[in-house]
This record gives sequence, structure tokens and C-alpha cells, in this order.
Amino acid sequence: MDEIIIRGGRVLRGTVDVSGAKNAALPILFASILTPELCHLENVPKVADCRTARHLLERIGVELVELGRAGSTLVLRTPTVTSHDAPYELVKTMRASFLAMGPLLTRFGYARVATPGGCAIGTRPVNLHLDGFAAMGAEIHQRSGYVEARAPSRGESPARLRGARIPLPFPSVGATENLMLAASMAQGTTVIENAALEPEVVDLAAVVASMGASVRGAGTSVIEVDGRDELDGFHHRVIPDRIEAGTFLIAAIMTGGDVVVRGARRSHLGGLLEVLEAAGARLEYGDDQIRVRRGHDGIRPVEVRTAPFPGFPTDLQAQTMALACLANGRSTVTEAIFENRFMHVPELHRLGADIVVDGSTARIEGVRRLEGAEVMATDLRASVSLVLAALAARNSTRLQRIYHLDRGYEALEAKLVGLGADVERIRGPAATFVRRPRAAAAAGGGGESGDAPSTMVARASQLGDVS
Ligand code: EPZ
Repeated sequence: MDEIIIRGGRVLRGTVDVSGAKNAALPILFASILTPELCHLENVPKVADCRTARHLLERIGVELVELGRAGSTLVLRTPTVTSHDAPYELVKTMRASFLAMGPLLTRFGYARVATPGGCAIGTRPVNLHLDGFAAMGAEIHQRSGYVEARAPSRGESPARLRGARIPLPFPSVGATENLMLAASMAQGTTVIENAALEPEVVDLAAVVASMGASVRGAGTSVIEVDGRDELDGFHHRVIPDRIEAGTFLIAAIMTGGDVVVRGARRSHLGGLLEVLEAAGARLEYGDDQIRVRRGHDGIRPVEVRTAPFPGFPTDLQAQTMALACLANGRSTVTEAIFENRFMHVPELHRLGADIVVDGSTARIEGVRRLEGAEVMATDLRASVSLVLAALAARNSTRLQRIYHLDRGYEALEAKLVGLGADVERIRGPAATFVRRPRAAAAAGGGGESGDAPSTMVARASQLGDVS
């Protein structure tokens, strides 16, 4: 497994371009299943999750006609499918594979997709997706870890979903996206109430509308879709990744730097920008870019509670906690979206952070300095919060299990080095934690200091391997 070594204390300066948004690209890639026409998608981030989505599409029978610009432009076509299955071995590595269900079900009348199961941050159920498909007339069966869905047959004509009114109990991003995809070829109009407002949902709606389905209300809590019997292809450029943009804004503040983040959109980052301004950051807004510097009086403590868009994004919670570790006072961070999204806390402790978790709220006492250490990534956003803390820490940090980072950040090391950070990736086989017990090391027994194997193994198993 690769590792990253970060020698902290460098000030980040310069300009960085964010990549396309992973969480916008994924549902749009699955939208290509809806049509036999050519689908051109540009600005696709070169991250593991998008590669996984491509593999799944090819397994289903989607043709990859062209892979341009070093993999960030894809041209896809689905004349038909060779399989209606999304197998567990792919779904378990990337939950968003469940977005294959809506398109398969609405175009071909049948879909069999492995239930994604949970991950490090929560149980991640898909009941809202399934309830919505059922409201559209689908027959749903769950067995042996798979969901089978069949559109209602209508005499001689092919099975088709029918438009429905679907009130969502929670503005689920994935459920809104899956149901919008299903509605695009349903018979009649579908109304999704309490729909998610995230920019990624709006980007998908623009694509579905460009394919010929009429979509009204994207970006509001009521989305209406008039289904079509057939859909055209599309030519679309993925929006910039607001979570990556927010991550770089925070990195600049933590290192006391001066950075222009190109692709950062004020309209996409509302919840975060309020918190950064409360932390005293100096922000200058340009066209599709934001310049950021730390405030003259350091980092002020913040109060954060995650919420659906336009509230504070849960995907920036871990990164903001890293920022709060260096504030001059006490901050609180409450995670109100996922039930277990504080896995970064024990690892931030290892870097010298002072954090106490009480249920879904973490209290962070700012410290003067963080100290480099060996730490382990547990999930995508937790891992980048450790990178941020390491950039600001004294000495070196060794970050393990960085395959989590590779799921959602394109060329992160290169972008950070371009801003003046000292970061390098150590490519290696499965890292073996061969260390002498601490007592022996302290007695001059040589070997690396740090946890004895039993402690390391215990910690690794405690953290668990997350999909
Ligand atoms: C999307 O996940 C994102 N993933 C997540 O980003 C993001 O954290 C999340 O939205 C919230 O913004 C992608 O877009 C690929 P939800 P999703 O459905 O769709 C509960 C990252 O780091 N829920 O809005 O799975 C669920 O358990 C990832 O890039 C149900 O109970 O999020 C959670 O508590 C992590 N039943 C809450 O809703 C359901 O059927 C929010 O989930 C669906 C969801």
C-alpha cells in the first residue's frame, strides 16, 4: 500500500486548479445508460471512484467509445446492455454504483444491484431509493444481498415505470439522483418533494434535460420530471469539485498562506465560506475563483453543524475540524448527517490535537502547534483532514492507507507541491508494520519507535478497512 510523507511547516502560496466534481461525474456517467446515442463527458476527475464507475458501466455493456485528454474526457454509448447486474465486488468498493439501478430499471424494465452495505461513516441504507422506485410501480425484491427491481408490465407494450409523486422524508442526494434518472423515461410526470439541492444534483438535472426529458425545479426542494420514451445523448462538462475547493481554502488558512483556488464558486460553498469568515479568514471573490489568506489575528474558533445544502457540507466537516485544531479557543463541530463521521479524531489526537467527542458533537481546544506522527486514513474525507493537519504540523507525518485519498482527490500531492508543500508518495507493497515493542526501542533496542506490532494491529483492526 502506498503512503504519503508530509514534512510540515511550509506556507502554501500560489494558484491551484480544482478538478471536476467526483460526486457530479458519477451520476452523470450512469445517465449514459439511458440512451443509445453518444454521451460526451468532459472534466471527469481522474480518481479511483470514476474508474470504478467506468468498470461497472463496461460490465453492464456500455461502450467506451473514446477516452480523451488523459482520461478526463469520456465518450460513451449504450446501444443495449449485456447485463442488468451491478455485482457486489464493484458496488462494495463504491456505493454510488447503486445509481445504476434507476437507469437500468427505467430503460430496460429490470435491474439487479448489490445493496451497497455500510461504510466507515455509517450504515448508508438505500430505503429512500427503493421506496421511490416502488412508488413508480416497480416490484422490489431483496435477497442474498441484492436488490431486484422490475418495472410493471403493461399488456403487450414493454414494462415501463410510471410517473409518481415522491415525498422524500430526508433530502437524500443519492435518492434524488437515482429517482430523477428513473423518472427521465417513466410514463408521465414525476414530482420529487423535499429533493436535495446540492450543486451535483443540479448538474445531473442539466444533463437529463439536455437529453430531452423536461426537468423543472432542480436546485429547489421540488423537482418535476416529464419522462420520454427515448432520450438523446449529451455533451457536458462536469462542474468543479466544491469539496476539493473547500479543502484547499482550509489548507491555505492552516499554513498561513496566500492561495487562489481556481474553480471555487461562491454559490457552491455558502455554508463553508460563512465558517471561514467567522474563523477570520480574508476571502476575495473573483469569477470562478477565490483568494484566501489567514486573518491577521490568527484562526478564530468556530461553531459548525453539518446540514444538507445550502447548509455546512458534511464532506468538509473533517477538514474544518483540522482547522479548528489550530484555532485560538474552543470550537464545536456537530455531525448531523452521518452517524459515524469522526473516525479522523483518534488520528488527529496522534498529531497533538485536543478533541473531546460527546455523541455527535466534538469539542476542539485549539493548540499552538501540531506535531508530525504516523497516522492512518480511514475514509476519504478523514484522510484529507490528516493531510491538512500534517501540512501545518512541525516535523514529518507518515500517512498510511492513502487509497482512501485516491478515491476522491486527483493528483493531490502534485497540487500541494505546486503550492510549496513538501509532500511525497512512497509507493510500496503491502506495508508491513515491523516494529520493536516500545520498551525495547526505549532501551536502545533499535528499530523504529512507535507502536508495538500488537498495538499497531489492534489499531488497524479497530479502524477497520472501509470501502
Ligand atoms: C452523497 O452520498 C455523497 N456521495 C456523499 O459524499 C455526501 O456525504 C452525501 O451525499 C451527503 O451530502 C456521492 O454523491 C457519491 P445521502 P449519499 O443519501 O447520496 C441517509 C464523499 O465523501 N439515507 O444524502 O449516500 C444516509 O444514511 C461522499 O464524497 C437514508 O437513510 O448521501 C445519511 O445519513 C461521502 N436512506 C443521509 O441520509 C437512504 O435511502 C444522507 O445521505 C439514503 C440516505
